[in-house]
Amino acid sequence: MGELQGRKFILGITGGVAAYKSAELLRLLVKAGAEVQVVLTEAGARFVTAVTYQALSGRPVWTDLWDPRADNNMAHIELGREADAILVAPATADFIARVANGLANDLLTTLCLARELPLLLAPAMNRQMWENPATRRNIDSVVADGVGILGPAAGDQACGEVGMGRMLEAEELYEALVTFVQPKPLAGRRVLMTAGPTFEAIDPVRGVTNLSSGKMGYALARALIHAGATVDLVSGPVALPVPAGVACIAVRSALEMRAAVMDHVDRAEVFIAVAAVADYRPRESQTHKLKKSGDALQLELVPNPDILAEVAARPQPPFCVGFAAESRDLDRYALHKLEAKRLQMVVGNLVQIGLGGDDNEVVIYDRAGRHPLARDDKHRVAAAIVAHLAAALAAR
Ligand code: PMT
Repeated sequence: MGELQGRKFILGITGGVAAYKSAELLRLLVKAGAEVQVVLTEAGARFVTAVTYQALSGRPVWTDLWDPRADNNMAHIELGREADAILVAPATADFIARVANGLANDLLTTLCLARELPLLLAPAMNRQMWENPATRRNIDSVVADGVGILGPAAGDQACGEVGMGRMLEAEELYEALVTFVQPKPLAGRRVLMTAGPTFEAIDPVRGVTNLSSGKMGYALARALIHAGATVDLVSGPVALPVPAGVACIAVRSALEMRAAVMDHVDRAEVFIAVAAVADYRPRESQTHKLKKSGDALQLELVPNPDILAEVAARPQPPFCVGFAAESRDLDRYALHKLEAKRLQMVVGNLVQIGLGGDDNEVVIYDRAGRHPLARDDKHRVAAAIVAHLAAALAAR
């Protein structure tokens, strides 16, 4: 099941070059299970036609205030009845001006004026238009009316200039909508977490590391943001984009990870250790590349500090959640970690399933017992872990 299953949106599209991104946004929303009704302005139809949006959404596009398909000719009332939100992307300077002034001279502006549901605008325009005092006034005015503004971003513009006014990318708008519709049980909570592997250097080109991809930790960081938390993520070397809204501190070794965690832990109410931290590091990292010889090479390894155990042993520790990746006897080892490190929760997973791939199958262990979760995509597993965490925090 997609993460937007059962959600309904109205996607308003006005006349801007960025409309090509809205076709991709529509595809992402539909793929995630959302029902999307596209409402296109006359100018919007000049950039990408209704045929594209109809094919992507699987439903006819609305353009006309006087469309006889609506009961009582009230399309502006009917369309907004069941949706979770209206997102207008791209929202041109002209469209924002009309919304700011309460105009209702086409279907989309009339829908916005007659709405009871939240309205989000993704501005897209040339930088001078964005900076013009009239646009600034209009933006202030719609924000004061409770409208959400997503973006814009700075960068290359269709007119050849560079500056503020680019519409956010489809993936960014998708993320903003997912965050918008999620309940916020962790609002006001600050979470510090670790993710990914660590890399313990042997010399400038070689090191000791492991197969953690960071996917589980990054999915958890994203789910925490969706739930309203503030997230500081200390991440080992991974090839993943940082989820929107997450403050990421990039580190390489276990010692760097420890230092970053200790820098941030005072402010954290919750600490979640997802990282596969190397238990050992080479006693010495060589300054120059080791040269090959016919002899055996001895590498002396020394233990790394246990970051999670150190955080949990602080006089006033945050709520500590550990992970346990095991290849067998998951219950026994995970429960041992819960006790030995004095944690509030441990998420256990088998390395055969959880390490590196897109899916995971976990068991949550806490003082109330053992809570197995079904095997699923890491994003949905992360959402379930966050729901469990939120309930545990609320019950404290
Ligand atoms: O990154 P992916 O490919 O998505 O894979 C996810 C994962 C399998 C790495 C993840 O789900 C997971 O299980 N992480 C914990 C890995 C592990 O082996 O933990 P551990 O048994 O070594 O350590 C137990 C706990 O102590 C963990 O929370 C760990 O972060 C923490 N720890 C361990 C050693 C250390 N020096 N410092 C620590 O903080």
